[in-house]
Amino acid sequence: MSRHLALKLNLLLLIFTTPSIEGVRFPCTLKGSCSLDEAQDGENDGVTWAVLVAGSNGYYNYRHQADVCHAYQILKRRGIKDENIIMFMYDDIANDSNNPNPGVIINHPKGHDVYAGVPKDYTGDNVTSANLYAVLLGEKKLVKGGSGKVVNSKPNDRIFVYYSDHGGPGTLGMPNLPNVYANDFIEVLEKKHATGTYKEMVIYVESCESGSIFEGLLKDNMNIYVTTASNADENSWGTYCPDMEPPPPPEYDTCLGDLYSVAWMEDSDLQDTDGETLEQQYKKVKVRTYNNDSSQGSHVMEYGAKGIRLESISLYQGFAASNVANYDTLISSSPMGVINQRDADLVFFQRKYEKMRKGSQEKANMLKQINDIKNHRSHLDSSIDAIGVRLFGSRNGFTTLNSLRSQGKPIVDDWGCLKTMVRVYETHCGALTQYGMKHMRAFANICNQKVTKKAMVAASVDVCGEHDVGQWSPLKIGYSA
Ligand SMILES: *[C@@H]1O[C@H](CO)[C@@H](O)[C@H](O)[C@H]1NC(C)=O
Ligand SMILES: *[C@@H]1O[C@H](CO)[C@@H](O)[C@H](O)[C@H]1NC(C)=O
Ligand SMILES: *[C@@H]1O[C@H](CO)[C@@H](O)[C@H](O)[C@H]1NC(C)=O
Repeated sequence: MSRHLALKLNLLLLIFTTPSIEGVRFPCTLKGSCSLDEAQDGENDGVTWAVLVAGSNGYYNYRHQADVCHAYQILKRRGIKDENIIMFMYDDIANDSNNPNPGVIINHPKGHDVYAGVPKDYTGDNVTSANLYAVLLGEKKLVKGGSGKVVNSKPNDRIFVYYSDHGGPGTLGMPNLPNVYANDFIEVLEKKHATGTYKEMVIYVESCESGSIFEGLLKDNMNIYVTTASNADENSWGTYCPDMEPPPPPEYDTCLGDLYSVAWMEDSDLQDTDGETLEQQYKKVKVRTYNNDSSQGSHVMEYGAKGIRLESISLYQGFAASNVANYDTLISSSPMGVINQRDADLVFFQRKYEKMRKGSQEKANMLKQINDIKNHRSHLDSSIDAIGVRLFGSRNGFTTLNSLRSQGKPIVDDWGCLKTMVRVYETHCGALTQYGMKHMRAFANICNQKVTKKAMVAASVDVCGEHDVGQWSPLKIGYSA
């Protein structure tokens, strides 16, 4: 983790600068017009499509759906039509019994509702990686369920993709398994490019280790420009969480947003208003200062066709490019201002627990639930360590599983092997869950060391044979690969 950080420490910049109302506005001469409306209407300029994906469900993951709903409002305001916006969200937040404001979702402590009007294209069981791929490819026949809306783009069209959720090295979460794997996602982009049905694509990804989806994988000759919330081996960060500065309203026990996501979206909001009101609001609650505690931050990365960045900023007027790339490093101003994505659910359960009546059954149940989660997490951590020792010896186990490949290389070469190893592990040791995605690098390194499936089965049986996977059986909740 610290290697990339060290390399880039000298670049640590002031991120949370007071956002200027001007944002990054480039002269309108780049494309002859700055107006998206005109761009939408002009025959030659094509239209802009957007695919917005929240990869999680559950009230404790409130923030991911809040993020993509907020993105929808920005796109709408900038003239993109509903028929060109495709939403993937589980849609279990607005009406969740924990939501203090039923039917409303906010993405900022003082924020307005971002849920109103959001199209329900792919919700619930229909939020799948297979549907995401089919939608991006414009393959209506391959879509299962949902609205059937796909990116039916033409050669002059632009495509914006924004994803927010948990992730791990080489993988992005989905509320219905299996998860998205980097090689499959990149293959979809390559196929899309081969069909010649877009002029340029801009992709924003917020997740832990989001850089690993593109590092060494995305070619830079496909007119696809990507920014990610973190490099290939860093966490990304939830924000506006209870007990943080700034906190959500007191009746919310959950995080409202994610750091990279709210950064680009709040900048977009500010660019869209002369409204001092909004700026003042944001300023009031957000203390934006220097901070060089890099243990609570991440590096915004760029991949692909960096050359289209300037043009994108002009064309999308900030919604896609904003100035995220200029942030370089995302760090909150106060030590409590962000939380590791992977611990945000426990924060929620802990808060609920504390508020429950002493001695009540529900409090006892909640405690059990929290302990079950913690126990499963430590089982995941310790069993993977033990498998490393079993495969590579006590001296080399840990370092082999955690070794980083050189920059510019993907985490693994044989993605089929990676998926096989994940399935073998889950069969014997239980589901990785969102938390366990962080161990994807261990499976990648097992493949990089050419361990056979047979040896992996033997090691997993050896380490987990006696373990009761209980509620975390992949037969109950599915395989993540
Ligand atoms: C939420 O509840 C409202 C009011 O009962 C209902 O109209 C709406 O369909 C519900 N939405 C979802 C996503 O369940
Ligand atoms: C999935 O899509 C189908 C077809 O549109 C729809 O009938 C169904 O209700 C959707 N399922 C969920 C859980 O939203
Ligand atoms: C960053 O860290 C250095 C060394 O600890 C310290 O001297 C400096 O004041 C810090 N800068 C900021 C902006 O916090």
